[in-house]
Amino acid sequence: MTHESFLEKDKKQMHPLHHASRVGNPLMVERGDGVYLYTTDGRKVLDAMAGLWNVNVGYGSKELPKVAYDQMMQLSYTSGFAGMSNTASADLAEKLAGFAYPNLNFTHFTSGGSESSDTSFKTARYYWRQIGRPEKTKIISRWYGYHGITMAAMSATGMSKYQTMFGNLVPGFIHIPNPNGFMYEGELLAGETVAQAAAREFEACILREGPETVAAIIVEPIQGAGGVIVPDDGYFDLIQELCKKYEVLLIVDEVITGFGRTGKWFGGQHYNLSPDIMQFAKGVTSGYLPLGGIQVSDEIRDVILNAPADQSWMHGYTYSGHSAACAVASANIDIIERDGLVENAAKMGARLLEGFQGLVDEFPHIDNARSVGLIGGFDVMKNTESHEWDMDLALEIGKVALENGVRSRPLFGSIAFSPPLTISADEIDTIVKTMGDAIAATA
Ligand SMILES: Cc1ncc(COP(=O)(O)O)c(C=O)c1O
Repeated sequence: MTHESFLEKDKKQMHPLHHASRVGNPLMVERGDGVYLYTTDGRKVLDAMAGLWNVNVGYGSKELPKVAYDQMMQLSYTSGFAGMSNTASADLAEKLAGFAYPNLNFTHFTSGGSESSDTSFKTARYYWRQIGRPEKTKIISRWYGYHGITMAAMSATGMSKYQTMFGNLVPGFIHIPNPNGFMYEGELLAGETVAQAAAREFEACILREGPETVAAIIVEPIQGAGGVIVPDDGYFDLIQELCKKYEVLLIVDEVITGFGRTGKWFGGQHYNLSPDIMQFAKGVTSGYLPLGGIQVSDEIRDVILNAPADQSWMHGYTYSGHSAACAVASANIDIIERDGLVENAAKMGARLLEGFQGLVDEFPHIDNARSVGLIGGFDVMKNTESHEWDMDLALEIGKVALENGVRSRPLFGSIAFSPPLTISADEIDTIVKTMGDAIAATA
């Protein structure tokens, strides 16, 4: 099989975010090893995005495929519906109980992040309905937040480019400004910090909508697909106070930030978050098989467990608790623990940040270096004073870097990075050097 023949076959495939301009020339990957991808036209690319923020243990594990094989040989599939379960999903539910947050001990498994978002929203509504507050249905999220792409998840996602071609949105989804000083788009009153202003916008939104109608706010601890947006200090303390004050559930979306990505096991642990619902996917299996899920607080669990039979939590998927995916997740978590990958993410993240800061110091149009563990980025500016992004140049820099063997992800005017947590110091230096060369070549 030649490179050209794969390109030809691939024209029959409708890809995520499909556009004709991207057809015919994808990076046609046939193999992965460590942080590297190998393509059918003989290229070796350092994948500084770990796939789609998810290949936490890196490519080419010999252990995880064996776990999947052994599990499938024993049991290929059984349903979780109607009184059935399987040993692998029971093992994983037990392993995850209290693992991320002490009050989250009850897990429902999905196949990915978008299904997890829909599951969170429905569970929040279910909870309020069951405790006699059925009018609490609205979901608040932030601009530049990304929560997936099914109808409800898309409606919570705060980026119009994902929405305008598919309107109308699901009713009852409301967006507020994100909480980062560099990117803040809301009103800033005299004497206010951005964290205070963003929290004030949250409170104003609750009051405008009516607290009796608001079910939950959904937040990524660090916003990923919106361009790696790190919240300003103090923001989440204020948000959590307001959630308590107005009885709004806190849904924490750890789909990217879970399982070591940020240099802690879960991103919300940087901000003392105490979620009512937490959702995960991606890094839970490092992408070796599809799996996601939500965990709910003991209070929500008790409401679900005590419901009358005709008010069951009528939700779930054919692949909820898929045995092979769950077995791989358990082994993947063991590998992250055994190999010290959370610690490595913290250490290598600090090195990446230092490298990005060097690029900011060297190039006047590069700004806003950031990395929390191994989720980081920098911005490409037309004008640093007015914070005007140069989106075309960001794309061009990403393209040149890819030609030179490093895959990053331009997002708006930012360039995002989230390499495998197994990355070495030399490989971090390769990322920084290649990006520096691409910036110099395009300046
Ligand atoms: C924070 C977050 N939530 C949800 C999702 C949706 O996940 P999926 O693509 O698995 O549906 C993503 C995907 O990138 C994400 O980053």
